[in-house]
Amino acid sequence: MSWYINAVFYELYLRAFNDSDGDGHGDFTGLRQKLDYLQWLGVDCIWLLPIYPSPLRDDGYDISSFFGIYPTFGFLEDFRMTVQEIHRRDMRIIADLVVNHTSDQHPWFIEARSNKNSPMRDFYVWSDNNERYKDARIIFLDTEVSNWAYDDRTEEFYWHRFYSSQPDLNYDNPGVRQEMINIIKFWMDMGIDGFRVDAVPYLFEREGTSCENLPETHNYLKEMRRFVDLNYPNSVLLGEANQWPSDLRPYFGDSDEFHMCFHFPVMPRLYMALAKGDRTPVVDILAETPEIPDNAQWATFLRNHDELTLEMVTEEDRQFMWDYYASDQRYRLNLGIRRRLAPLMGNDRRKIELLNSLLFTLPGAPVLYYGDEIGMGDDITQPDRNGVRTPMQWSGEANGGFSSAPVDRLYAPAINDPEYGYRSVNVAAQQGDPDSLLHTIRNMIQTRKRLPVLARARLQWLEDLPTNLLCFWRRDDDQTVLALHNLGGEAFTYTLPEGERFRDALDPDEAVGKTVTLPAYSYRWLQQVMD
Ligand code: GLC
Repeated sequence: MSWYINAVFYELYLRAFNDSDGDGHGDFTGLRQKLDYLQWLGVDCIWLLPIYPSPLRDDGYDISSFFGIYPTFGFLEDFRMTVQEIHRRDMRIIADLVVNHTSDQHPWFIEARSNKNSPMRDFYVWSDNNERYKDARIIFLDTEVSNWAYDDRTEEFYWHRFYSSQPDLNYDNPGVRQEMINIIKFWMDMGIDGFRVDAVPYLFEREGTSCENLPETHNYLKEMRRFVDLNYPNSVLLGEANQWPSDLRPYFGDSDEFHMCFHFPVMPRLYMALAKGDRTPVVDILAETPEIPDNAQWATFLRNHDELTLEMVTEEDRQFMWDYYASDQRYRLNLGIRRRLAPLMGNDRRKIELLNSLLFTLPGAPVLYYGDEIGMGDDITQPDRNGVRTPMQWSGEANGGFSSAPVDRLYAPAINDPEYGYRSVNVAAQQGDPDSLLHTIRNMIQTRKRLPVLARARLQWLEDLPTNLLCFWRRDDDQTVLALHNLGGEAFTYTLPEGERFRDALDPDEAVGKTVTLPAYSYRWLQQVMD
């Protein structure tokens, strides 16, 4: 079985993680100092958000040089040392690869807009009018009014699917396609284990289409995969395609496109099921989820560095989610909610654990977001999605132990309110408390790794239970797990199948009788004892 199938991923924002030199920004040295923590936690693979030079108009997703490191993070050698240190601990690392666009400060774009005849002109998509590709939606609805931006120097419009400071690359140009392969080679040669590939559906544009998921785009992604398979076997390409299940399936191809894709549709439905105390949204979306190739895997997640996206739900469900989880309008952004997991759950420990339990027991490889393992909060005063990207809270010391810099030099202040602030929510305190959320999450990670059945085995629902119970079997030839979740506010007693014996996988000391009582918002992982 390929390593990523049963892996637990940890999404890490380097700027926010640990500042070793007191300049207010996290860095590679700081990360290396915290690798023991990540190893202790038990995660298998770190996903590093963009670490490249960037004017930071989109927090590093606007890249101004693909072959370097953002100055405050360290040097290329630092990157290489960090990769080695990660591997020495039997962990892996994947980096963000931004294929769709560059920053408008990238030398390619600077040259492209210097004059119309520049050889770099064709690296981007230009038009003398802003009428082309009208059927392509606008993604950053709150900030952009068009996918075209006017360049007064050359008096033409350029195409951009995200911020206007992020011109889209022109994949019809073979030079662009080759450059991206060179970029992949450069970083893979540094020893990383693959990429999380950013915003993949939008590489090509064709008139009369939505310009998403086009056959040309799939063909190029297959080319990328061929290159990686040939030169770097045993690595992973994880695609970010925020699409419906039927549009997602082609991104796995016939085992010749992505090894993994994020399961965007299931994510909001976990929250919806909990809010409604009704398993139906989750059951329905998993029924709609197509089979994927044997060596492929879904990446599942609860939260990430972006807003909790509600693009993959109906208008009605979106309204429900907004009303329920973001009644304060300030938490709404584009088609989503800019909050972290703990505040979304009203800091109710039972619900935080319950959603994590679903993440770890439903099919897919879980991706955790830094800070959610201790229940960090968010900062509504920060613009855009930055409120969910605040400094990691290591201890009760100044700046949560993240940095020794004065507060006004930090890239963003650490959260400091009574409920979620670093004095009450931090790693040190929770490491010392066996009953903490951190220990619970760690136990889930370790237990899950002992139960590879949870990664890929088929799922079978227990259908004749009240709708507030989300219960299912995961079974393969070696292991059987019965996962029980009570999404409702009242206790329920479940009678186990006659003649079968179970042990509590999360708490082996806890005896399992003939019935199991599930208090409100609780969960159990029962492993069948095979004779
Ligand atoms: C992806 C990233 C997001 C970024 C966007 C544009 O969706 O997750 O943070 O803003 O791509 O690069």
